[in-house]
Amino acid sequence: MSQLIVTGGSILNGEINAPGAKNAALPILAATLLAKEPVCLNGCPKLGDVKNMIKLMQSLGCKVFWEGEALIVDSRSAQCHEMPDHLLKAIRSSIFLLGPMVARFKKAIATSPGGCDIGRRPIDLHIKALRSLGVVIDERHGTLYCDGENLRAATIHLDYPSVGATENAMMAAVAANGETIIQNAAREPEVVDLQEFLCKLGYHVQGAGSSEICVRPGCAPKSAKHTIMRDRIVAGTYLCGAAITGGDVCVRGIHKELLGSVLSKLHECGCEVETGRDYVRAIGPKRPQELKRVETLPYPGFPTDMQAQMFALCTVAEGTSVIVENVFENRFHHAAELSRMGGENSVNGSIAVIRGVKKLTGALVDAWDLRGGAALVLAALRAEGETIVRGAQIIDRGYEAIERDLNALGATIVRA
Ligand code: UD1
Repeated sequence: MSQLIVTGGSILNGEINAPGAKNAALPILAATLLAKEPVCLNGCPKLGDVKNMIKLMQSLGCKVFWEGEALIVDSRSAQCHEMPDHLLKAIRSSIFLLGPMVARFKKAIATSPGGCDIGRRPIDLHIKALRSLGVVIDERHGTLYCDGENLRAATIHLDYPSVGATENAMMAAVAANGETIIQNAAREPEVVDLQEFLCKLGYHVQGAGSSEICVRPGCAPKSAKHTIMRDRIVAGTYLCGAAITGGDVCVRGIHKELLGSVLSKLHECGCEVETGRDYVRAIGPKRPQELKRVETLPYPGFPTDMQAQMFALCTVAEGTSVIVENVFENRFHHAAELSRMGGENSVNGSIAVIRGVKKLTGALVDAWDLRGGAALVLAALRAEGETIVRGAQIIDRGYEAIERDLNALGATIVRA
């Protein structure tokens, strides 16, 4: 267990580069199983979840190693179709391997994946999508036995535009004979990045970014190089930090389109938002204004992964804000922790009402989940005195070193 000790009262100022996106890197790493030659991934963030995914790939027999800043994956030697339980429990994204494994080995064995504690996280949509593609899945004693011998193209209608189920279906479908259509697909930019990578491997995938994706098999070329897209959530977190502290933060390498709904809320709370070809800058007001309604939705709606950070912002805003969490059922753990710092909020099911306070005070708080933990760090920047955020390793799953980045912008955070 590590903890972050945050001395309040800093104002974030300066420039920072957006890192590669975790949520693009993880499915792309899984997709390397579909490559016939080694691939080179640039901009892959060195995060806890990525490290676990690398271990998982290695346990299947892939050769994965860093060459400077580039991650090389050679999956030619992979032959194991059973994922080790302890690694599956460590990251939810292990589920992304089901599709590529069935495509590659025609079989896969896995137990239920782990991940952040943000409510029930069923995998029924993944299973339904794979079954539509002819995969026979037998669930016994918490283990999934997948048989993809009769993998076939199909029209899949997702009941909900799940990001992971869309990506799994895309990756399994590349090995099906014929054209697969995924309807009601997730439109997240990370799905588009996966499409680009699959195309580089020689597969035919079109439509990502819209709600209908078309996948056709292809022949893989010699090797592929890909640069992982930048992380819109990390960028949004630091811009939110500017809004909370009344600072001025410019995030480089990120396009405003990736952050549309977030920038609209930053503008609404009184930030001056400036954007250029590859940067986004937020200049915070002295004290943010309340946000009448923030409602999380699939992309291009407001991202659930930015809900906690906006919650922290609303906690110090002038006026009363309302946040509705529609995507995950239990993603308000940070509410109680922010109350320990003097925040005033009430949560009823998926709705949180936050009465902004003028002053927060340092306290001992716990990071329950990745984004919730980051939100506590942001709030602590505005608190009087010292805040100790326990469970910093949970934050590390999505931020390479949040204290390094925020200290570079003027914060005072020490890891202990
Ligand atoms: C991805 C992101 C995560 C983000 C989430 C929503 C990655 C690695 N993670 O997670 O950071 O918070 O999208 O934008 O990309 N659901 C089901 N059955 C399923 C699958 C999902 O009911 O089989 C439900 C989930 O419980 C949740 C909702 O669908 O309520 C959205 O989940 P989904 O889009 O699948 O999120 P992930 O792909 O897990």
